[in-house]
Amino acid sequence: MAVVMFEGVSLKYDRQTPILKDISFGLPAGSFHYLMGASGSGKTSLIRLIYGGNFEYEGTISVFGRNLAYLKAEELPMMRQQMGVIFQDFYLLDHLTAIDNVALPLRIQGQSWSSARKMAAEVMDWIGLSDCLHSFPTSLSGGQRQRIVTARAIINRPRILIADEPTGNLDDENALKLLYLFEELNKQGTTVLFATHSRELVKAFPHDVLNLKKGELSLQPESSIFAEVKVVRHA
Ligand SMILES: Nc1ncnc2c1ncn2[C@@H]1O[C@H](COP(=O)(O)OP(=O)(O)OP(=O)(O)O)[C@@H](O)[C@H]1O
Ligand SMILES: [Mg+2]
Repeated sequence: MAVVMFEGVSLKYDRQTPILKDISFGLPAGSFHYLMGASGSGKTSLIRLIYGGNFEYEGTISVFGRNLAYLKAEELPMMRQQMGVIFQDFYLLDHLTAIDNVALPLRIQGQSWSSARKMAAEVMDWIGLSDCLHSFPTSLSGGQRQRIVTARAIINRPRILIADEPTGNLDDENALKLLYLFEELNKQGTTVLFATHSRELVKAFPHDVLNLKKGELSLQPESSIFAEVKVVRHA
């Protein structure tokens, strides 16, 4: 089953030229895709559509087999609980400590604070954040905050993990660590969509690439990622 399915989806906002032009693709369960494209090409816009954060589109979007347009109001939050989303602009709650931000999805699902925090501490340790469990987000660096968002996104083992530039604020070592983590989750069955500008990461961890360009979406299969390095022979 496709976890996400777009059929003839167009997105315009309020301008003449559409940001997304009649795009169709599917993310099969358990797949790992990168989403690439120049700044402003529509990656974040596409991710917001999957998340049900914008309904001003044409065409059909289905997530977990359900057409988003036909969801009842109370169904969207339930669907979102099965999605781990790492947004480009954080969305941490500044009045909660790092560990409580990470524990929050489990709290929302009904766990006690103590069991949610126990799990949060484990995930944070795993992701290299054990030094800042009790810090408030505003006192942390961009890379640390980004990892808190990541920990929060994966803590309830989502069916799909959608990451919008999660390595943008990370040094190379931490970016690679994050990719290892995503690969591990993917091996355990989580479908992954990972928006990035980094060709280096794609080469280090090859997977199929969805490329956005001028509103069109094309698929570059994993097998061709190394083929694009052309050998130029000089006469
Ligand atoms: N809420 C909005 N209303 C109107 N236009 C928007 C809105 N959000 C994004 N845009 C426009 O849509 C285009 C695509 O933006 P988007 O943020 O999706 O690009 P992106 O590929 O994520 O870029 P980046 O790599 O810089 O994050 C841009 O021209 C942007 O100005
Ligand atoms: Mg973006």
